[in-house]
Amino acid sequence: MKTVITEDYTQMSKAAAEVVAGAVRKKSAVLGLATGTTPIGMYDMLVQMYDRGELSFKNVRTVNLDEYVGISSGDKNSYRAFMNLHLFDRIDIEKENTHLPDGTADDLEAECERYSRLIAELLRDIQVLGLGRNGHIGFNEPGTPFDSTTHVVELSEDTVKANSRLFARESDVPRRAVTMGIAEIMSAHKIIILASGAGKARAVREMIRGEISEKCPASVLRRHGDVTLIADREAANELL
Ligand code: F6R
Repeated sequence: MKTVITEDYTQMSKAAAEVVAGAVRKKSAVLGLATGTTPIGMYDMLVQMYDRGELSFKNVRTVNLDEYVGISSGDKNSYRAFMNLHLFDRIDIEKENTHLPDGTADDLEAECERYSRLIAELLRDIQVLGLGRNGHIGFNEPGTPFDSTTHVVELSEDTVKANSRLFARESDVPRRAVTMGIAEIMSAHKIIILASGAGKARAVREMIRGEISEKCPASVLRRHGDVTLIADREAANELL
């Protein structure tokens, strides 16, 4: 795994945006995207490049990692709403080319199969990941098999707590989500994983220095031939 350590969050976001922009400039790029706090700065920078006329997303297709179960796309807490707010509504992408799992599907098993087929068809040039404090990627919590495909997960208490900052009350945070599986994350051509802040330092160390084990889902990334960790100084603190 390559490691890029930046001075701060802004520089991390800039470095990540440049890698993604490189993919977007290729014809008909497919991007694997993440939600969460970490990539917001990267999305802002991609929007700025678009505003300056440096990038067009007209021929870009996207496939996101995950979506909560039971929250409709119109709900402001849905990951669909997050993506619209931070990226899709601000650029020239065709909405029908943007994909997230449907967490309100009646038959979630069938929805997972549909999403797995979509991932197999849309070969991602690049997959952007954030890193959970417990080492999760997507919503693949510790213990998730490395060969997993899209599935429904029960979120761990840690993850519910971490995500509650975006909801009015902790009890409002959904307890389940649909997530791309680890095998599918690994099938992207290139992966960048972003980490910012001291709260991620332990997970960064585990991912890079710990054993490759299902106890730390992100450790699997060391088996991929083209992964770059882009971390700010605080998140990389335990590596230095
Ligand atoms: C988001 C996702 C999660 C987050 C992770 C880090 O789509 O799949 O794995 O990337 O929980 O979240 P933040 O960036 O909020 O610290």
